[in-house]
Amino acid sequence: MNQATFLRNAWYMFAWSDEVLAAPFARTILGEPVVVYRNSAEAGDLTALMDRCPHRFAPLSKGQLVNGNIECPYHGLQFNGAGKCVHNIFSSAVPAAAKVKTYPIQEVDQALWIWMGDPALADVATIPLIDYHHARDSRWVSGLTTAKADYRLLSDNLMDLSHTTLIHPGLGGRDYMPKVRSWEQPNGDVVASFTTENMNNFFGEEVIPAPFVRHCDTIRWSPPSTHYLASQTSHVGSEEAVVSIYSAHILTPETPTSTHYFWSSTVPDGFPEEVIRETLIQAFDREDKPMVEAVQVRMGDAELWDLNPVLLPSDVGGVRMRRKLEALLKAEHAQANACAVESATSS
Ligand code: FES
Ligand SMILES: [Fe+2]
Repeated sequence: MNQATFLRNAWYMFAWSDEVLAAPFARTILGEPVVVYRNSAEAGDLTALMDRCPHRFAPLSKGQLVNGNIECPYHGLQFNGAGKCVHNIFSSAVPAAAKVKTYPIQEVDQALWIWMGDPALADVATIPLIDYHHARDSRWVSGLTTAKADYRLLSDNLMDLSHTTLIHPGLGGRDYMPKVRSWEQPNGDVVASFTTENMNNFFGEEVIPAPFVRHCDTIRWSPPSTHYLASQTSHVGSEEAVVSIYSAHILTPETPTSTHYFWSSTVPDGFPEEVIRETLIQAFDREDKPMVEAVQVRMGDAELWDLNPVLLPSDVGGVRMRRKLEALLKAEHAQANACAVESATSS
């Protein structure tokens, strides 16, 4: 396994806004250490640099901000937001070669998004938008967990919700017997839907006054790794939702075998935020994560297809998602190789 499993020319969620306050904040993204800080109190005024000083490779995130520049904690070189060394505390001479890699970073609706690929291709119009993050009067909760697993295994898990039957007893458990469908949208996103026509009313009769309900989960994968889930529960025989919960599952690779899993969810009317938050932490942290991490251990460094997995009908969305991602990775590698050949022949 290597970093070729990541798309580089894409926006990845870096952090929730409230994680990055006054001090430099470090996080590893696609195997690269990154430090982000706010240049001023103004939201949106952000700098993202590689978290490695070009002198002796100290983590800049352990340094302090001096007049808006970050000071290396080892020998004190100071760098501005463009990654240029602007001050040497021992001399008026600033080493011209002292430069730190920078990354485009943007803040949208309480989330920070970073671009790890070619900065010239970073188009802010392509940052994933989550409607309820943007809506002024919506109630939603959010969280983050880091899983010791390849981000694609977490996408597989999200795109095959038939695991709910065994992994999530509180979300229907053995009654969750969905009919599965999958399709690709014109824009290339992949959708999988899971409909159970008649199952126990896992919300309880105080929420939906009936012993049984119809439940439909529809999840949409948008490359590289944002998933939008609509969970709709209605009366048996009706498609008109009584309870709708919308959630986002945003995966950012930390390394080839670990992933930052950002999630958020709407809170439907009548539900306390704490109930939804606790339900999701239970599902992701205590139920999904241990299973996907155990799968990663069993797979070791092997690629999924090299192990000849048995495929079930419920894999339809995950397989479609994998094929689409593989095509995007192939196209990005071909483009990178073409650029490398071009620069080699012109030099
Ligand atoms: S390691 Fe940063 S100044 Fe020496
Ligand atoms: Fe799950």
